[in-house]
Amino acid sequence: MLLDENSFLEIGNRIENTGKGISLKQKVPYDGVITGYGYINGEKIFIYAQDFTVLGGTLGENHGKKIVNLMKLALKECKPVIGILDSGGARIQEGVCSLFQYGQVFKYNVKASGKIPQISIIVGSCAGGAVYSPALTDFIFIVDKIGKMFLTGAEVTNKTLGTNYSNATYGNSEFISKKAGVAHFRYENEEKCYLDVRRFVSFLSSKNTEDNSGEDFRLKKWDFNLPGSPRQVYDIKLLINQIVDQETFIEVKKEFAMNVVTGFALINGTKMGIIANQPFVSAGILDCDASDKIAEFVRFCDSFNIPVVTFVDTPGFMPGETEESKGIIRHGAKIVFAYSESTVLKITIIIRKAYGGAYIAMGSKGLGTDYVFAWENAEVAVMGAEEAVSILYKNEIDSLNGEDREELIRDKVSEYQRCLVDVENAAKEGIVDAVIKPKETAEYIYKCLVQRDGGGTDFFKHTLNPM
Ligand code: HXC
Repeated sequence: MLLDENSFLEIGNRIENTGKGISLKQKVPYDGVITGYGYINGEKIFIYAQDFTVLGGTLGENHGKKIVNLMKLALKECKPVIGILDSGGARIQEGVCSLFQYGQVFKYNVKASGKIPQISIIVGSCAGGAVYSPALTDFIFIVDKIGKMFLTGAEVTNKTLGTNYSNATYGNSEFISKKAGVAHFRYENEEKCYLDVRRFVSFLSSKNTEDNSGEDFRLKKWDFNLPGSPRQVYDIKLLINQIVDQETFIEVKKEFAMNVVTGFALINGTKMGIIANQPFVSAGILDCDASDKIAEFVRFCDSFNIPVVTFVDTPGFMPGETEESKGIIRHGAKIVFAYSESTVLKITIIIRKAYGGAYIAMGSKGLGTDYVFAWENAEVAVMGAEEAVSILYKNEIDSLNGEDREELIRDKVSEYQRCLVDVENAAKEGIVDAVIKPKETAEYIYKCLVQRDGGGTDFFKHTLNPM
């Protein structure tokens, strides 16, 4: 279902279990994992699939060696690796030998990280190492009903903690995608999942052509308007779809941290990664989960030379005890780190609000973003006018009552808006490169994308000899 017809070539199909360990004197066919390579729309990929019918798809010594061997080949040839996972984790009967091999699988997941794309497909009950290895890969696809992920299964948890969980309590595909934010894509059945993996691999490996074969944005009718009031919400995905080529937007982690949107798309056939605040959910504020989601996405794009386009409309980082205790300082720092460290082309568009730390974090010029554009009437400032005035003029405001007090606040808010919020100030400082009309957005992005490197984004351009 996943590979081009008749393209699979199996490697190591005579390898069985080592025979070490307790109660494993019988032969275990192919040690429970099938490894090899094949093609997806003509693109070579390395692939392994665990077989649950063979000792629960567990990883014994030779099972691990087969996977590591496959990853070494993929690294040498700079090709993606896809794992189809259905495994109870380390094979208990083989003791430390299976634990050691899991260590090796993890090590090679990390060696491959940022050099070749790694994709995990979860189509069974996966536990222990069978979830930690996917967690080290770039993208996790999970299938409803059959796909489950937990570090520790219910039985072991109940024995250890004296609890009464069933395997249905946690780890199902919805829990893993929405709550835990572990899976990037979720499907109702295997057919849809494999079709989308094919589409995704082709998207990642495609080279941008110079003939601009995508949709011509100049011919597209502009059909997006911001709401009348800055406090009104709207769906940022309407704007994204207005700007990118029709039906090319592939949203990543769309059920998790929905206050931000991440995904891939094309403009005029040119590939990019998109990050955006979503005003529709919690006003597009940044919290711990949103920070993790953005940082992970920037790092993937940077590794594979996919330009990052950021749309900003955020009131700031989420204040309050809940997020502070979850470690918003630690999580928020990841966004700053990811943008600052990345060397890929970065373009930021400030749509409406860009305040304080969230303004800095969302691909600001200060972090090294190459081009920053802002829509007319965008607001760029340390904080909103009313909050700022209440801090700056606290004593004066407190000393007045009634209409005098209201008048002072009105005057100071208006002065602050004019002098410190108006986007023209940021443009004069060179922190914003141009103030643009909404309908010019696609053109500005596209020009920045194609004017570098003669126009193409070569997927493996930054891939050095990985060994
Ligand atoms: C050996 C195992 C096994 C394991 C399952 N089996 N897990 N054999 N080692 N780790 C075997 C079962 O004995 C059974 O064999 C067959 O696989 C199917 O398992 P069932 O339990 O019958 O299936 P199901 O009810 O679907 O439950 C699947 C499961 C559950 C949720 C995966 O088996 C489970 O919780 N297993 C333990 C998971 C776990 O804690 N793994 C962590 C290992 S440590 P028969 O002969 O009856 O068909 C690890 C180290 C790395 O992975 C950790 C990194 C952090």
